[in-house]
Amino acid sequence: MDHATQVRLIRIALDAIERGEPPLEEHFTRNRPDAYTSPERAVREREILFKAHPIVAGFSSQIPNAGDFLTEDLTPVPIVIVRAESGGLRAFANICRHRGSRLVQGCGSGARRFVCPYHAWTYDLDGRLVAIADEVGFDGLDHSTKGLIALPVAERHGLIFVHPTPDAPLDAAQILTGLDADIASYRIGRFVHAESRAITRRMNWKLASDTFWEAYHIRVLHAANVAPLFVRNLALFDPLGRNHRLIGVRKSIEQLRTISEDKWDILPHATILMNIFPNTVLVMQTDHAEVYRIFPSHDHPYQCTTVVSVLAPEPSPKWTKTLELLLGVIEQDFAIGEGIQRNFESGAIREVVYGRYEGALEHFHRSIREALAEHR
Ligand code: FES
Ligand SMILES: [Fe+2]
Repeated sequence: MDHATQVRLIRIALDAIERGEPPLEEHFTRNRPDAYTSPERAVREREILFKAHPIVAGFSSQIPNAGDFLTEDLTPVPIVIVRAESGGLRAFANICRHRGSRLVQGCGSGARRFVCPYHAWTYDLDGRLVAIADEVGFDGLDHSTKGLIALPVAERHGLIFVHPTPDAPLDAAQILTGLDADIASYRIGRFVHAESRAITRRMNWKLASDTFWEAYHIRVLHAANVAPLFVRNLALFDPLGRNHRLIGVRKSIEQLRTISEDKWDILPHATILMNIFPNTVLVMQTDHAEVYRIFPSHDHPYQCTTVVSVLAPEPSPKWTKTLELLLGVIEQDFAIGEGIQRNFESGAIREVVYGRYEGALEHFHRSIREALAEHR
């Protein structure tokens, strides 16, 4: 983050602590539970946000060498991403062009070809169909028309972006509107992928995201773990196009009062959360980064899977402990989320309200509504 922005935010934080009141939006706002319970809404979100919109599909450090590959099954279009001989990435729909079998499972390294497990149609790493077993049965079929369906792919700051729609424009810098320079400054492009875990819960994917977008609940829900570190109900929110940034402020920020502004550095005194619209939460901590990629389930509108990943400056067994600690906190949030989902489905309440310090939630939901309305 550039120094001027850090100074601006630190001043807001120190003022807020002095006043004993967080920065406030003009008004509180409302949202409707059917945003989480309507099956039609769920279908539209999958089609528009997860199929017609680029997503973060993995990390460059997971597939550093030619022939390394990973798959992503949580997206509506199953994806395989492979590092080509040239060093660049290729992404494809993970679908064999013979009769549609899943082509590749899991992840791996050293691949030179992808061989379909069903009848052994074989593709090279550029997606070209290079061999058909017992080809006589397909006499006259032009191989060049049956290559894998290529998907736009890009890497930036160690994040892999894929657009699930062939030939759609993909501009990673634009996807990172308002966040690009910040993320560059944290140098996560040099980090390695330490470990990931997937958590499936019976709640709409937006409830998994919502839990990141206010600091109001920390003092209460997380009283037994992280609450003592943070200033009560203080979060610094900036909308950045459809993305946004929310900074949780640690009590240690008060140390900066005695240090001259030119030496101010916010990261040791903050947790910096960034939403890469729609479903990726990137969290910068002092010594590592966390990425939460949240996907609605394929067959259940009220279920989601969150892939939690730790990225770190160097590999170390200690990151497993880090991951487990943060999963402990997240479990508290997700348990509440599952309860909210059931309560919304009861139909007993018609609205929820977002307080004047919960503006990031309003921005998140408005951004989704806008993206959906664009596709009407
Ligand atoms: S479906 Fe892949 S070879 Fe038949
Ligand atoms: Fe939380």
